[in-house]
Amino acid sequence: MAGEARDLKLKIDNVRKVFHTRSGEMVALNGVSLDIYENEFICVVGPSGCGKSTLLNIIAGLTDATSGAVYCNGKAVTGTGTDRGVVFQQYALFPWLTVKKNVMFALEMKGIKGKQAQELAMQYLAKVDLEKFADHYPKELSGGMKQRVAIARAYAADPEVLLMDEPFGALDAQTRTQLQSELLETWERDRKTCFFITHDVDEAIILSQRVVIMSARPGRIKDIIDIDIPYPRTQETKMTPRFLELKNRIWSQVYQEYLEVRK
Ligand SMILES: Nc1ncnc2c1ncn2[C@@H]1O[C@H](COP(=O)(O)OP(=O)(O)OP(=O)(O)O)[C@@H](O)[C@H]1O
Ligand SMILES: [Mg+2]
Repeated sequence: MAGEARDLKLKIDNVRKVFHTRSGEMVALNGVSLDIYENEFICVVGPSGCGKSTLLNIIAGLTDATSGAVYCNGKAVTGTGTDRGVVFQQYALFPWLTVKKNVMFALEMKGIKGKQAQELAMQYLAKVDLEKFADHYPKELSGGMKQRVAIARAYAADPEVLLMDEPFGALDAQTRTQLQSELLETWERDRKTCFFITHDVDEAIILSQRVVIMSARPGRIKDIIDIDIPYPRTQETKMTPRFLELKNRIWSQVYQEYLEVRK
């Protein structure tokens, strides 16, 4: 975006994370720096265990960095905040609340109450095709359905920055494609800053403006690829030559890291 000033939304500044485990110190992240701009959709890919979730948890304020820092709107992150909403890799629903009440919880946090909260909750549940299960409890749902409730709750919270950790990972291919399209449409409309972790290279390319490739442990940023495919994007975009070219380029780098892990 030459000549256009862009607002910095998130700054990840030289983050290092060391876990102290029974078998000694484990460096999960080392020297991770990344600037994420307002309205940007960033996808992060990398082998299992490279520190993707750890990085997301540090941005969310759920985990401290051992050194380095994360800034959101120029302010150092020291804990969780309503400016950053999270969809966890393992859906985290309140088991004692119904599906609808789980979503209403996010709305109530924002001061939306009563009938309005109920109606909005149903609208967000419709986005993930779960209106019929509004009065069920999480334990009555499948893994993929629980994950969709968690996604509806994150959308309802309407945070400035959406942090999503493999949100579609537990879903069947069809639902996954449907939710990708839904997220694309939402993002094209609202342009909310998004930090999205996935193992699926196709998903990373179709959704994002930049794909961050992380290296095997200790997690570092290996490369950042600009996705110069114009919006609006649809599932058909996945068939275009430029898409396939980018897919090859990203996949070969990711694959190298998978091989590193298996050594
Ligand atoms: N609380 C913890 N205590 C000790 N080690 C941890 C802790 N959390 C994560 N780790 C370790 O840090 C490394 C990075 O874990 P992380 O969950 O961030 O990986 P990931 O890239 O999200 O993997 P996946 O793709 O499988 O979700 C792993 O080796 C993991 O064992
Ligand atoms: Mg993870």
